Amino acid sequence: MKKTAPPKHQDTRLTTSGRDPERNHGIVNPPVYHASTVTFPTVRALHDAREHRFDTVYYGRFGTPTTFAFEEAVADLEEGRRSVAVPSGMAAIAVSLMSVLHAGEHVLVSDNVYYPTLSFCQGFLRKFGVEATPFPPMAGADELRALMRPETKAVFCEAPGSITFEVQDIPMIADVAHAAGALVLMDNTWSAGYHFKPFRHGVDISIQAATKYIVGHSDAMLGAVTVTDADLHTRLKTTQVGMGYSAAPDDCYLGIRGLRSLAARLPRHEATGLKLADWLAGRPEVKTVLHPALESCPGHEIWKRDFTGASGLFGFVLRDGYSPDDRARMLDGMELFAMGYSWGGFESLIIESDPRTMRTTHDWPHEQPVLRIHAGMEDPDDLIADLDAGLRRLSA
Ligand SMILES: Cc1ncc(COP(=O)(O)O)c(C=O)c1O
Repeated sequence: MKKTAPPKHQDTRLTTSGRDPERNHGIVNPPVYHASTVTFPTVRALHDAREHRFDTVYYGRFGTPTTFAFEEAVADLEEGRRSVAVPSGMAAIAVSLMSVLHAGEHVLVSDNVYYPTLSFCQGFLRKFGVEATPFPPMAGADELRALMRPETKAVFCEAPGSITFEVQDIPMIADVAHAAGALVLMDNTWSAGYHFKPFRHGVDISIQAATKYIVGHSDAMLGAVTVTDADLHTRLKTTQVGMGYSAAPDDCYLGIRGLRSLAARLPRHEATGLKLADWLAGRPEVKTVLHPALESCPGHEIWKRDFTGASGLFGFVLRDGYSPDDRARMLDGMELFAMGYSWGGFESLIIESDPRTMRTTHDWPHEQPVLRIHAGMEDPDDLIADLDAGLRRLSA
């Protein structure tokens, strides 16, 4: 919708960004362009395209108009200037880190990140001479400052952590990182970019597993990295094409389609998640609920300050004494809540995850693991009935 001035509100932009009906026969949605070869009528045109290869249709690996439409819409959602589409959320994490770190440098990684992020830093990056140090997600400025080294060039955050839900103080982390010359990378998947605007809070590179809420239907893998800085965009694109991480045009199309209904889906996930979280908090079998909108969640005050709402992903911890068999009895019998990785789709999910197998900087303060819930689009009362039956099976 290039002709009109950019509309002001986020929900309007979600319906208009990345669309260009005038260039597509009036068709509302951008078509799916499949391409490897792109042909040029003259040597001059080919050279021009090569010179502007990160900004134009040049070769399939660099993106097609479908990729660019998706990137434009995500950049708009995140309030960034440019996005780079990649084939998964993990690819978005890897491309970001590889774009800003070099041999001999150091990265600080929050100890509540998606665990494969930490593994990537401590395994893969280490092979290339980059050292990674995890830090406690709720570390204060002094603790963080003490961990910064002259060679620290990046701080990787996730707020809230997608297993243990601590909400990090991103502006404080950004102040410390920037004062020491390091960039702030943030996995912004939980908020879908809808409820947290990373560049207002000091983030330099915002990462999304678009696989989750953006695609929204559990049927595609997709990632996006967004920046405001042109030089960072060039570095990201150089890594993306250099590694051959091209997002498939069909998946970009699903990402665009998901974005069109995000403003309707996310509030529903939020409302159902809050209803389930409140209900669980009142149950005798439950010790604590880790939902950023509840006071029981570490960083709740920061969530209130920096976020405009919640998504549908949260955790809870059972009271001491339940055995793995008790929990299996509960989980195996769930009717609506399915067990499986990922989240952000229309369906409700529940999965057990033990932070003790992932955390290195601080002790998990509970005897029991986290039971993580993704609140889907089902009727919340049916979901509560499913949880109720499950909690009763615990002690059966
Ligand atoms: C917070 C978070 N970031 C990144 C990823 C990775 O996304 P993908 O599965 O698309 O690689 C996940 C996957 O579960 C996630 O939960």
